[in-house]
Order: sequence, then structure tokens, then C-alpha cells
Amino acid sequence: MRGKVEVLIEALPYIINFKGSIIVIKYGGSAMIKEDLKVSFAKDVVLLKHLGMHPVIVHGGGKRISELMEKLGKKPQFVEGHRVTDSETVEIVEMVLSGVVNKEIVTNIIKNGGKAVGISGKDNFTIKAKKKLYKDIDIGFVGQVEKINNELIVSLIQDGYIPVISPLGVDDDGNSYNINADDVVAEIAVSLKAEKLIYLTDVDGIYRDINDKNSLISSITVKELQNLIDSGIATGGMIPKLTSIIRAIERGVNKVHIINGTIPHSLLIELFTDEGIGTQITL
Ligand SMILES: Nc1ncnc2c1ncn2[C@@H]1O[C@H](COP(=O)(O)OP(=O)(O)OP(=O)(O)O)[C@@H](O)[C@H]1O
Ligand SMILES: [Mg+2]
Repeated sequence: MRGKVEVLIEALPYIINFKGSIIVIKYGGSAMIKEDLKVSFAKDVVLLKHLGMHPVIVHGGGKRISELMEKLGKKPQFVEGHRVTDSETVEIVEMVLSGVVNKEIVTNIIKNGGKAVGISGKDNFTIKAKKKLYKDIDIGFVGQVEKINNELIVSLIQDGYIPVISPLGVDDDGNSYNINADDVVAEIAVSLKAEKLIYLTDVDGIYRDINDKNSLISSITVKELQNLIDSGIATGGMIPKLTSIIRAIERGVNKVHIINGTIPHSLLIELFTDEGIGTQITL
């Protein structure tokens, strides 16, 4: 019993400090596969909201897109990590991300006592996008964020809802674009002047050597991040993550964390304990 009380007391200064703050969370594909983890994530977010913080969620879901494509007889293709997205594929992306994954997260939050509304970046044209140019290769309807219109997100927060956002963008003509969720979450954190930006992924944080579990970096400055990319320490999905973090910190987000979303309640451990967890990135 004593242990339980101590946990609450340890959390008290953090609860006071974060009250009223916007906490933007990237809910990564790999952290949202298992049913029990989906529920523990939903509970964490509901708890944050009831403690007076304002969580905002941006989710990925690449694996689920590939699954549906394969069921429909389309072979997923990638050019250096970017999904080649023809007009049929962007429809599938929209169906899976905005239709299935987004609503699943919303349902879990509501079932666990929160109020949540799912939107895509197309709702109220929240995410204005333009085609991402990638070397000389046409990768189709893959977008980059041009501008965030945060009006709808802010209204939802003010009305007590947890916004859950799928990473689709729209251009002036109404075309949909599939955007890397890491890019979207960073732009949204900047636009909302978030207190914290947290990436939930499937590793403990950034490793100096991905094969050495003892090489986890617990704290690093943004200046060193570019070195990690340039020296080849960060590869694959870690590259867009770090690039988006650099942009977020340079544009005013104070604290960014990468934590392991496959550990139940890692979000609470990061926010409310003295030890923290994962990798912290600061200016
Ligand atoms: N130096 C590094 N330290 C830690 N992870 C690294 C490093 N370099 C590359 N990675 C890879 O980055 C991956 C995380 O990025 P990934 O894009 O796969 O996940 P995500 O962004 O959480 O999910 P999604 O892209 O589906 O939303 C890890 O699983 C790991 O394999
Ligand atoms: Mg990723």
C-alpha cells in the first residue's frame, strides 16, 4: 500500500507542472498491434486528460495499410522507405488510417472513460499538403505538410475532447496525400506550442548501436541528432523521426521524448516518475 501512495506523491510535482499543458503524442504503428497495449495506451491518455493535461494524438498504421493492400491483390512498394502511393493506394490509405485505425483508437479512449473525436488532416483542411518531391522518382500521392490550420484541434481541446488525428493531408484541389506521421506530429506540436512531444515506438529509444542494448541514449541535444543521421547510427524509420524532431525543437517545442510503446504504461512512466524512460531530446 505504501508503495502505491509513494507513486502518487512522486507524481504530484509533475501533475502540477503539466496541468493545462498540451502533450502531443505520436502513436506509432508497431506500438498499436497488441490488444492489451491498445487498451493500456487508451487508459494512459484518459488519465492525462482527467489530470488536467491536453493530450493530442497523431497515429501511423503502415502495417495495416500493407495488410489491406495485399488482401486486395496490390503489392505494397517502397522507394527508400516511402510508400509508392498511386490514386488507388491513397484511397486504401485513407480507408485504413481514417476509417479503421483512427476509429479504433477513438473507441478505446471512449470505452475507458475519455471523450475523443477522430479527424483526418482533411477535416476542416487541418493539414494543407503538397506533393513530396523525392529525387527524380514519382512516388505518387505522398505529401509533405505545407501548413497546419489548428482551429478544429483547438476547439476540440477547449471542449474537453482528445483529438485523434490521422496523417492525411489535402491540397487546394481536394487531392488527398499520405504523409509520414512523424512529420505531421512535429508540425502539429509546433502549431499548438506543445509543452512536450512524445513518440511512442517499438524500441526503447535511440541506440548508439542498435545491436547493443546497453547503448541506449538517455538524453541528447538536438545538435547531436544530425550527427546520428549523418554517421549512419540512425537508419530506416528512425531517420524521419529524428528529422521531424530537429524541426520541432528548432521551432519552439521544448522537450521531445522517444519511448517504447510496447511497454505497458510507458507514457505514464515518462511523464510522472523521476527516472523517466527512453531518450530525451532537448535544445
Ligand atoms: N539508432 C537507432 N536506435 C533505435 N532505433 C533505430 C535506430 N536506427 C534505426 N532504428 C529503427 O527505427 C525503428 C522505429 O521506426 P519505425 O518507423 O519502424 O516505427 P514507428 O515510427 O514507431 O512506427 P510507424 O512508422 O508505423 O508509425 C526501430 O524499430 C529501429 O529498427
Ligand atoms: Mg515510422
